Formats: sequence, structure tokens, C-alpha cells
Amino acid sequence: MKKILLILLPVLFITGMAVYQIANATAQTKIGGLMDKKILVAYFSWSGNTKSIAEKIQTQTGADIFEITPVTPYPSDYNETAYGIAKEQKEKGIHPPIHNKDVSSYDVIFVGTPAWWYTMAPPVMTFLAENNFEGKTIVPFVTHGGGGGYTIDKDMEKLAKGAKVLSPFVVYGKGGSGVDKDIAEWLKRI
Ligand SMILES: Cc1cc2nc3c(=O)[nH]c(=O)nc-3n(C[C@H](O)[C@H](O)[C@H](O)COP(=O)(O)O)c2cc1C
Repeated sequence: MKKILLILLPVLFITGMAVYQIANATAQTKIGGLMDKKILVAYFSWSGNTKSIAEKIQTQTGADIFEITPVTPYPSDYNETAYGIAKEQKEKGIHPPIHNKDVSSYDVIFVGTPAWWYTMAPPVMTFLAENNFEGKTIVPFVTHGGGGGYTIDKDMEKLAKGAKVLSPFVVYGKGGSGVDKDIAEWLKRI
């Protein structure tokens, strides 16, 4: 019995180590698949929630970060923005002028937006429509006030011609206390 155990234990140990190494390597490859790419986190945020998520993604990926800002800022008053200018832009399909960024040197662009009137905010539409995303990967992230992510990823696909748009990270407000972990797990799945 002792002899069998002496033979079996090292075999079990080596098998266990091999399984661990393979699992670990797979996780590394997944993160590595993203990490060896040139990454930009681009976002628009009116009241800070999307900015907060963008900064967390930036911290965890080491990417460059860019805030999409409209040339004419939105009013600080909620009603003026929500029921005034933003509603009008949504209804008329207006893409407001923005301070843009050249994305040509990036492979992967995380694109963050608040849900505005069931889709992305208009400045994000401008960002996607006015840049060339041919052959690039877009990773959407959305913060919302209870409505969820709608079809924002599909809407992004229509604007960013030639891009591959991945599944979005969708969060209510700034996310809860577990949001850092949620982002880390989502990044591993990409
Ligand atoms: C103009 C406007 C439109 C909005 N439309 C929606 C909506 O359709 N669905 C929703 O769930 N939340 C909506 N919200 C709430 C925001 O999506 C939510 O508060 C978001 O986290 C804000 O992000 P920010 O702080 O980065 O601006 C809207 C807010 C504003 C100002």
C-alpha cells in the first residue's frame, strides 16, 4: 500500500501541476491577446459615471485615454440637457461637432458612453462616424440609469464601418463596490 502511494503521489502532483499550468496559460493568453495590442479608451461622460468606468479600464489595461468632448458643451442643468438639446439631437439625428482624436495608431478602442435616449450619446456617434475604424476592434462600455445597454453595440457597428464590435460592458450608474472585479473579469473574457 505504501509503495502504491509512493508511486501515485508524485504522479498526481505532476498531473495537478500540468493542469494548473495549462489553465494559467489560457488565462494569460486571453489577457495577453489584448495586452499586446495598442489600446485607447475613448469616452464621453456628462455627469461622471462613464468617466469613472473609463478610468478603471485605463488603470487595468494601461491604455491611453481620451475624453470625447463636444465643441459646444451641454448645459449643466439636467432638464435642459435631457429634454432640450440631447432630445433634439436624438430626434433629428444630429452628430454634434467634437474635439476629435486620430485613432489610426490603435488596434483596440474601448468606446464608453452613457445611455442617452435609448442609444449612445450624440458626441460618441460623431466620434464613431468621423474616424476610420476599418480593421479595428471596438469594445463598448455603457453606463445607464436603469434601462440597460439597449442595442448600443449594434448602433456602434452601423456607425464605425469596418470595425469588429465586441459585447459591451454594461453597468448601472458608476457600478457597485464590486465594479473593479467585474471589469477585471470582463477584460479576461475579451
Ligand atoms: C440626456 C440623457 C438621456 C438619458 N437617457 C437614458 C436612457 O435612455 N436610459 C437610461 O437608462 N438612462 C438614461 N439616462 C441616464 C444616464 O444614462 C446615466 O445616468 C449614466 O450613467 C450617466 O453617465 P455619465 O455620468 O457618464 O454622463 C440619460 C441621461 C441623460 C442626461
